[in-house]
Amino acid sequence: MSTLPRKILVTSALPYANGSIHLGHLVEYIQTDIWVRFQKMRGNGCTYVCADDAHGTAIMLKAEQLGRSAEEQIAAVKAEHEQDFADFHIGFDNFHSTHSNENKALSEEIYLALEANGHITRKTITQAFDPERNIFLADRYIKGTCPSCKAEDQYGDNCESCGATYSPTDLINAVSTLSGATPVEKESEHFFFDLPQFSDFLKHWTRSGTLQTEVANKLSEWLDSGLQAWDISRDAPYFGFEIPGAPGKYFYVWLDAPIGYMASFKNLCDQRSDLSFDEYWSADATTELYHFIGKDIVNFHALFWPAMLHSANYRLPTGVNVHGFLTVNGKKMSKSRGTFINARSYLNHMNPEYLRYYFAAKLSAGVDDIDLNLEDFMQRVNSDLVGKVVNIASRTAKFVHKLGAGKLSGAPHDTSLWEQFTTADSSIAAHYEAREYGKAMREIMALADLANQYIAQHQPWSLAKSEATQAEALAVCVQSLNMFAALSTWLAPVLPVTAEKIGEFLQRPSCWKTGPVWLADHEIATFSPLLKRLEQPAIDAMMDDAKAALEALQPAPEVETLASNGQLDADPLAEEISFDDFAKVDLRVAKIVAAESVKGADKLLQLTLDLGGEQRNVFAGIKSAYNAEVLVGRLTVLVANLAPRKMRFGVSEGMVAAAGPGGDEIYLLSPDSGAIPGMRIK
Ligand code: MSP
Ligand code: ZN
Repeated sequence: MSTLPRKILVTSALPYANGSIHLGHLVEYIQTDIWVRFQKMRGNGCTYVCADDAHGTAIMLKAEQLGRSAEEQIAAVKAEHEQDFADFHIGFDNFHSTHSNENKALSEEIYLALEANGHITRKTITQAFDPERNIFLADRYIKGTCPSCKAEDQYGDNCESCGATYSPTDLINAVSTLSGATPVEKESEHFFFDLPQFSDFLKHWTRSGTLQTEVANKLSEWLDSGLQAWDISRDAPYFGFEIPGAPGKYFYVWLDAPIGYMASFKNLCDQRSDLSFDEYWSADATTELYHFIGKDIVNFHALFWPAMLHSANYRLPTGVNVHGFLTVNGKKMSKSRGTFINARSYLNHMNPEYLRYYFAAKLSAGVDDIDLNLEDFMQRVNSDLVGKVVNIASRTAKFVHKLGAGKLSGAPHDTSLWEQFTTADSSIAAHYEAREYGKAMREIMALADLANQYIAQHQPWSLAKSEATQAEALAVCVQSLNMFAALSTWLAPVLPVTAEKIGEFLQRPSCWKTGPVWLADHEIATFSPLLKRLEQPAIDAMMDDAKAALEALQPAPEVETLASNGQLDADPLAEEISFDDFAKVDLRVAKIVAAESVKGADKLLQLTLDLGGEQRNVFAGIKSAYNAEVLVGRLTVLVANLAPRKMRFGVSEGMVAAAGPGGDEIYLLSPDSGAIPGMRIK
């Protein structure tokens, strides 16, 4: 390998701007960050960019649901993401957004190049459409009864009950989850990226050493079974960039998302005179480009993206590095099991470097899933980081101060042991380079074991007791701290903050341009404790926190009555609406035929409402004001066309009207006698 510093651009996948960062995401950002820190320590030019993936229907609907503009929504999420990443010591050189000027310009430019090269085709397709919301419905926004097994409440295009796959239009009694309306079929012209034209190019590129073998093999299956044109347009309303020359048509989020890598880098180049956009992106670039991604988004990065870059005459990735998925205690992260843990729930209770170390110890260059076993996590962190590494310094530093005036001096006491350290250096570095962090951690910990055995064997605390052996005590401690310095350097990509603290103690910034250098005639500072043991209560507190965070995500019970809808409360002079807006609200007289408290929810009653033939299940936050039994038989008012809401306890199909000042004082509205269930209120 050339000794000139390399110039490397590194990306992690862009997290969606509609949710929080969770521990699954962090596998990727930690994996990438370790690699980037390693490259920087080695003296290579390495730039790490990322961004929020801000476009798409989900983000638009989320903003709507929260009563915000899409721009407000993505700004709020970006701030949260950036804080989470910073607190996990993810050292992006730039974190941008796909909803940016740079990305708009680049997306348009690339699209126009694809079009000019004859790689864009148009075709009219038929799709499900919500006639009430005036929006085309992706499969996940449609549900109904499975045409095969008749299981109810099945989403999109496959049945979770019998496994059948079908077109969403085949669902029986299909409804739009956005409005409850019956979807209709509607035609629209779509734009396609003509992927089949790149079939030969991709067959070659995917075998050119840019991908892990297992990934290339998977792609071969797709490539051999034939590629299809890729639908890159979406109709308004859509939160994204309008396609040039096609009013009302927008780029599908996955078209502009990877271009977001370029845009984030472009944005950085405009702030940093030492970086040039072309040096990293022009077709003849000699710099390196690596994308780190999860196994779920391989087709976007290893088929569509290289084909787009190729057509638009940009450079291709040097490598697409794919990792597996995180499981918690051996199972898929799950909201119902309470193992869906957000970054913040972790950060509220534990040192981020513990997770960085644990993931490093588990990561390889392969695509296998990695498991966070919480018991193993605690044990591993305590025995390796606290028990093995930190222990070396805490047992020896004081003698260097007592016997050696705080100075490392002299030659190695056990030369062959020191040699084992110096010779291990290149293989540890090679493991990092190859993303074999687990191997690197095992090698580092094996050396830490040797250091501890060495200390135990010589017992410097005993040698220090008599004057005749004090020189040897000092020599043992000097050697121990030299080994400790080496271990700290090797762990620095994983534990940047601890390494920095160790650097202060050793009065030497960690730098890894060469193998371990013996420190002699070198003054050190006093040692202060570096890492605390991880205790079970911290893990329990994180799990409680994760559960609470999930509950907060479910619609709060209070929101289930109109009276305590936060917006109305906050602003008694509610915004004026047109009659048409009002007419959209379908208010009905409903009879409460059953009422029960909901286990595990202290504010909710589960109501069964009769609408004159049709029955509805509604969760209402009125338990503080009513005993369930007194409600049975009563008439009330139901907002009947509210989109069904999935709550922790089941689906709520509407909302009962109630009034109150907020808090526990709530009055259910009822019509005068004579009203009949099902009557429309106008
Ligand atoms: N927005 C797209 C990526 C666009 S890149 C041009 C996306 N976002 S994501 O938020 O869903 O995921 C971001 C990254 O985190 C992806 O690489 C994904 O594979 C990874 N992970 C998300 N959940 C994960 C686990 N449970 N485990 C490991 N990685 C996971 O996809
Ligand atoms: Zn079925």
